[in-house]
Amino acid sequence: MQIEVLSSEAAIAVAVVDQIVAIAEKKPNLVLGVATGSSPLAVYQELGRRVEAGTLTLAAASAFALDEYVGLPPDHPESYRQVIEREFVSRVDIDSARVQAPNPHRPELSLEEACADYDRAIAAAGGVDYQILGIGSDGHIAFNEPGGPLDSRTHVGELTLQTRKDNARFFEGELAAVPTRCLTQGLGTIMEARQIGLIALGEGKARAVRNMIHGTVDPSCPASVLQRHPNATVYLDPAAASLLD
Ligand code: GLP
Repeated sequence: MQIEVLSSEAAIAVAVVDQIVAIAEKKPNLVLGVATGSSPLAVYQELGRRVEAGTLTLAAASAFALDEYVGLPPDHPESYRQVIEREFVSRVDIDSARVQAPNPHRPELSLEEACADYDRAIAAAGGVDYQILGIGSDGHIAFNEPGGPLDSRTHVGELTLQTRKDNARFFEGELAAVPTRCLTQGLGTIMEARQIGLIALGEGKARAVRNMIHGTVDPSCPASVLQRHPNATVYLDPAAASLLD
């Protein structure tokens, strides 16, 4: 696991997008793993700038989102499919039909079958070349909450109260509006990405970042599994890095 402490969110976005551009130059049909939350927003803006400047095209790329709420209508603005559409797809030249998220709205499939189908779709695309990740304040990645197995596949998950409180800001502060269940790529699924860039910003992430980097690899901090990844970089602003040794 490599650690890069950079001065600002904008500097982190440039560093992450430089990595993605390097992959795209060799493999125009790259497979990108995209995350929701506020941490990757500057990355999506920077991707948009590069596409506009003509130094990057994602026209042949495809993308897979990490997770999705269960219980929101598909057109709900906070459904992760909609967030990815708004924050990522609309800024770049990727074909929206080649962007997928775990889909709980398939009447022919149970939620568990939809999860298995999602793992098959990622495998059929050849796996993820570059996975963008954030981290929850409790150390979760995607929606893999503390205590789950480190080798899980895409599965139906329960959100912790802490995560629902953290995410209530996207639902006008109303905790009751935040779903309790989700579909999420598992830690085993995420670990198969060939390269990973995790972004953590602000002092609210400092404890989780410390546990991820200095703690033992343990389900109590799901992100700690990234210590075992051969090509993962953690990008931190000074506040998120403030509790590191
Ligand atoms: C959500 C998402 C995660 C994300 C986390 C942190 O729970 N499922 O993928 O990393 O929030 O979000 P933020 O970047 O807004 O702090």
